[in-house]
Order: sequence, then C-alpha cells, then structure tokens
Amino acid sequence: MNLKKIAAERAAEYIQDGMMVGLGTGSTAYFAICRLGERVREGLQIQAVATSEASDKLAREWGIPIIPFDQIGRLDITIDGADEVDPDFNLIKGGGGALLREKIVAANSDKLIIVADGSKAVQQLGQFPLPVEVVPFASEWTFQALEKLGCRPEWRMNEDERYLTDNGNLIADCRMESIVNAAELNVQLNMLPGVVDNGLFVDMADTVILAKDDGSIDER
Ligand code: 5RP
Repeated sequence: MNLKKIAAERAAEYIQDGMMVGLGTGSTAYFAICRLGERVREGLQIQAVATSEASDKLAREWGIPIIPFDQIGRLDITIDGADEVDPDFNLIKGGGGALLREKIVAANSDKLIIVADGSKAVQQLGQFPLPVEVVPFASEWTFQALEKLGCRPEWRMNEDERYLTDNGNLIADCRMESIVNAAELNVQLNMLPGVVDNGLFVDMADTVILAKDDGSIDER
C-alpha cells in the first residue's frame, strides 16, 4: 500500500476545470502531479505553476500546461508535501530543497493542501532538521549566525559538492532540540542577512491529508 499515493490522489480530487494549480515537490507531490496528468489527458482543463525544475519537467511530460509564475495573479489550490506537520498545521518543508519556490507559491494560493503519510504528523516541530536556504556569498558568516541562534547547521551535500537549489543557493540543514515557537523562529531566521528563506511554513496550510498505516485517510 503506497500511503503517499493515497494521500496525493485524494488531494487531486479537489482540482476542477479552470483552476490555476500550484504543483509541489517531492515524492508525495509526485503522485498528485501524475494523477492530475491523468485527469488532464481525460480532459481536465487547468493551468499550473511548478515549485521546482523537477516538478516542472514531470508536469510537462504529462501534458499539464505550465505557465510562468509572473503571468498569473492568484492560484486556486496548491498541493504539496511536508517533512513535518504539527497539530496547528505548522510545517517543516524543504527536505527536497524546494522550500523557497514552495513558500512563494503557497503564499499566493487561496488554498494550500498538504499531503503526506501519517509518519509526518508530530506533536512538536523540530525532529526533522530545518532546511534554511542561504546565498553563497558570505555563506560561512551566515552559517555562524545560524549557530548563534542556537541551531546546529550542516551544509547539505550532493556527493562531494555543496547542494545547490534551483535558485543557485545553498541549504543549511539545521538541527535543534525542538521548535517551541515556530512563528518567532521563522522571523528570526529570515532576518539574518544571507538567509533567503527557511522551511518553516507557519499558518499557511489550509487542509492536511494524511494517509494512515491502514490506508484510511485523515483529512482535516
Ligand atoms: C520539498 C518538500 C517536500 O514536500 C518535503 O520534503 C516532503 O517530501 P516527500 O513527499 O518526498 O516526503 O518540502 O522541498
């Protein structure tokens, strides 16, 4: 039983003719894009914006019309995955490195639907290392500033090289004891010069669809 597929395909049912859709990134969003691709082939008419080069490529392969973000006003619905979801629907995202475009797209969507298997539900955020997108310029200075905030950052690597996002930036994966106040940490991180954005999505998700171990869906 593929729990990610179950959650993602449920979310795809929300999409109707004429909608502007945000396409998330990752192994769960993958199934939502495939399902929407199937529906497009059956006649569903949508336009979409992708949150990563990988999702853009996948959507185009399915024939989903992709348009540049600057050509749209608002998106109706975005479907995306998450690395952690707390009881207030605050999220950690960015395990797939796409947090910046994901946050921009989410912020411009009328409805953000998060899809995940049940293991992503946590009581408190912070077990998953928080991804922080950092500009390469003065990156060591930014790394130290993250340490001073109480994080234990590690540069994300791609074999022997530092991982680069679709925007040409670095990712510092930041371990911490737990995140007691996600809203405050989100602001503190984003105030650091050199930090582009971070993977805390505070008060952004509208609906969370979790597929539980027995295949049933917890949808709130
Ligand atoms: C990518 C993300 C993903 O949505 C998140 O990492 C979850 O991925 P997956 O569905 O593969 O578990 O934020 O930047």
